[in-house]
Amino acid sequence: MSTISKVAVAGASGSFGLPVVHQLIEDGFKVTVLTRKGTNHNFPSGVTVAEVDYESPETLVKALAGQDAVVSVIGFQGLEQQIPLVEAAVKAGVKRFIPSEFGGDAENENISQLPMFVLKKATKDLLKKEAALGKITYTLITTGPFLDMALQYGLIANLKEKKIKLWDGGERSYSTTTIASATKATSEVLKHLDETKNRVVFIRSASLTQKGLLEKVKKAAGPDGWTIETPSVAENLKAAYAQLKETGEIDRVAFIVSAIWGEEYGSNFQAVDNDLLGVKELSDVELQNLIDGFAK
Ligand SMILES: NC(=O)c1ccc[n+]([C@@H]2O[C@H](COP(=O)([O-])OP(=O)(O)OC[C@H]3O[C@@H](n4cnc5c(N)ncnc54)[C@H](OP(=O)(O)O)[C@@H]3O)[C@@H](O)[C@H]2O)c1
Repeated sequence: MSTISKVAVAGASGSFGLPVVHQLIEDGFKVTVLTRKGTNHNFPSGVTVAEVDYESPETLVKALAGQDAVVSVIGFQGLEQQIPLVEAAVKAGVKRFIPSEFGGDAENENISQLPMFVLKKATKDLLKKEAALGKITYTLITTGPFLDMALQYGLIANLKEKKIKLWDGGERSYSTTTIASATKATSEVLKHLDETKNRVVFIRSASLTQKGLLEKVKKAAGPDGWTIETPSVAENLKAAYAQLKETGEIDRVAFIVSAIWGEEYGSNFQAVDNDLLGVKELSDVELQNLIDGFAK
């Protein structure tokens, strides 16, 4: 397979999208960002900005003409827009499509069935169909929760308020990746086309358990005054579905809990592509240092 030079990034203005764009620029790719008409973002210098309308296939095909790859980092609110994006990429002759995954095991059926991931699954199904016809290739990137973001927003532990939840007792292992490693892996996929063709790649910076994390956050923020809860993942999921039924709204965090700490959600990766994609696991000291940074 030939090499990738021109990369279009959809959702480049997002919390994950911007670091991805910086990494691609640093690694020498020619980046075009696709952004919705009428939005107002500051993009890094050196990128080409293409305004698109996801409801107008012509604008998408035009923006993707001549692009070698598409990286979609579209957020949850715009996930349905990945379908016309894939269709346009096929029409434009794009070689590799990386859809907006970057979370739990992209091939795990239990995750795919959670309401918030249904649109991600629809995109994967379309990519697989087109790839089987030889019209495009794809790579799904599985990272687990972003370690630094999850600490910043208190998802896995809240160091400022000294709160942590030991889901189902907190002994289940899960894989997690820093944003820097997730962006690096994204760029490296585009340099390893054959090895990453039409499959899911797994990367991780660390394997944690909530009990193990508790020891580390206590070291970082002090041992006393912690509020420690031990909720049930199954009960939490039941409540999330009940709320969805009642209000029609998807509580994303409530469903993400199952994807990270549920028993059959594949969150403890068995094999990883770290070596291929230039991702290092953190040593114990590096992990502690990173966690310490969120106690300040
Ligand atoms: N593993 C983790 O812990 C973790 C954490 C965060 C995110 N992620 C993943 O990373 C990917 C990107 O997430 P993100 O949080 O960076 O996304 P985000 O900030 O919510 O949104 C990214 C971009 O999507 C574009 N977009 C397209 N259609 C949209 C619409 N209808 N409404 C709103 N925005 C729309 C916007 O770009 P324009 O305005 O330029 O069009 C927006 O800036 C997702 O797959 C997410 O699951 C994973």
